[in-house]
Amino acid sequence: MNKDHFEVRSAGYDETDYRLRYVDEMAEVIRKHLPLSPAMHLLDFGAGTGLLTERIAPEVSEITAVDISPSMISQLQEKSHLLPCRLSLLQQDLCRDELPEIRVDGIVSTMTLHHIEDVPVLFRHLLTLLKPGGFAAFCDIDTEDGSFHTLDTGVKHLGFDREEIVQWLKEAGFENVEIRDATVIRKPQGDYSAFLLSGYRPQS
Ligand SMILES: C[S@@+](CC[C@H](N)C(=O)[O-])C[C@H]1O[C@@H](n2cnc3c(N)ncnc32)[C@H](O)[C@@H]1O
Repeated sequence: MNKDHFEVRSAGYDETDYRLRYVDEMAEVIRKHLPLSPAMHLLDFGAGTGLLTERIAPEVSEITAVDISPSMISQLQEKSHLLPCRLSLLQQDLCRDELPEIRVDGIVSTMTLHHIEDVPVLFRHLLTLLKPGGFAAFCDIDTEDGSFHTLDTGVKHLGFDREEIVQWLKEAGFENVEIRDATVIRKPQGDYSAFLLSGYRPQS
């Protein structure tokens, strides 16, 4: 059993102002640049307590929320009845565990990639979960000096170099790969820029 790195964070997770602000802005940039539509089934990778899921839910018909942490998933479970779309919860590590037998129209993810050791492998796995033409949209932080996290929640990357992460997504087989500014996360110890990385599974 993996350590639940978010056990001490999950209960008060939704009460942090800076976090609510950056998830609002990341959801907004995803809505602006990705083709969300009411019939879609999305996968929220590293959904946590569902901050992104609940902001995207009014736009689509179904979300599969995947997270490795039992405590984060259980926070999301508690508010699932409030969501305006169908929701399935999967407590799973998509880097190691067997992949679910689903094909989705799009994958969304906020602030999870920096917890993943082998991001290129993850990108290859996620491609297989998309229908042809489906999209993936990841928000995360640019390279930082190590001051972003004040608690070790299983951090594997101090942000990302944009050129390198774009290359990883292309090498995994995604096309029309783009990266753009998403927001600036303002924490008490400093400001951290964040990006939206997106790409599509080829039609054939
Ligand atoms: C910083 S939180 C972000 C949660 C949410 N997306 C948000 O923006 O509020 C990162 C989440 O990624 C999850 N996570 C870390 N590694 C994972 C993995 N290998 N598979 C699935 N989820 C993972 C953690 O449990 C945690 O809930």
